[in-house]
Amino acid sequence: MPLFAPNRFKGKLIVVEGIDGSGKSTQIALLSQWLRSQGYAVAFSEWNSSPLVRETTKRGKKKQMFTPSTFSLIHATDFADRTERYILPLVKAGAIVCADRYAYTAFARDVARGVSRRWVRNLYSFAIRPNLSFYFRVPLDVAIGRILGARDAIKHYEAGMDLGLSRDVEESFRIFQGRILDEYEAMAKEMGFHIIDATQSIEEQQKQMRKIVMQGLAASGKSGVLHSGALERERAYKETPISPPVF
Ligand SMILES: Nc1ncnc2c1ncn2[C@@H]1O[C@H](COP(=O)(O)OP(=O)(O)O)[C@@H](O)[C@H]1O
Ligand SMILES: [Mg+2]
Repeated sequence: MPLFAPNRFKGKLIVVEGIDGSGKSTQIALLSQWLRSQGYAVAFSEWNSSPLVRETTKRGKKKQMFTPSTFSLIHATDFADRTERYILPLVKAGAIVCADRYAYTAFARDVARGVSRRWVRNLYSFAIRPNLSFYFRVPLDVAIGRILGARDAIKHYEAGMDLGLSRDVEESFRIFQGRILDEYEAMAKEMGFHIIDATQSIEEQQKQMRKIVMQGLAASGKSGVLHSGALERERAYKETPISPPVF
């Protein structure tokens, strides 16, 4: 059975993946801004951001009530809610949806937590296949250095403290992220990730991403993708003024 349903809609789905501190959020923010500046209708969706499960997630984390499977299921519920209410309608309408983490995060993280690889893949089988998936490959030490430099404390589940890997938060985080990194590396080829060397400068990585995105959009003929078409609009304006799509 194929992993995901193909995207048969007008819009596109672009996702970023990688361990914490690999630079995903930095890059997808720059990419969305740039696509918007090019006149595309761009929407953004972030992992674990659905209002549907927010309170339960907060409570479960605070009281440390999650097991690997219930944690996995709550993320899947978050993902299903965002897929059905937000990502799919926007892709159907022709937008470019940029997602900061996608199902691959669950494939890497839940499996690193000991959940069955097959079970978690099956759980996300309703998802649509991204048109482009970027994987930010970075050595563990580089990522950890960035995280520790930018943050005060690493949280309980983030560090994988629920797994009893070490009593030291930093050590547990290191072991857990190492496991996640191994999972990403193991699936990179199968999932057709575009691998970006995430040790490069922010500018260099962004340049490579934009090139791949442009090639992707050109190859698909931009057919249904919503675009304000700056030049065409200027020409058409003389006859009938039209407005760019608003999101
Ligand atoms: N190429 C880079 N080189 C150095 N630092 C970076 C680079 N990309 C991002 N950072 C910094 O690393 C930290 C983590 O970046 P972020 O984009 O939040 O990563 P992620 O979303 O993958 O966890 C931030 O402080 C960010 O400014
Ligand atoms: Mg991030």
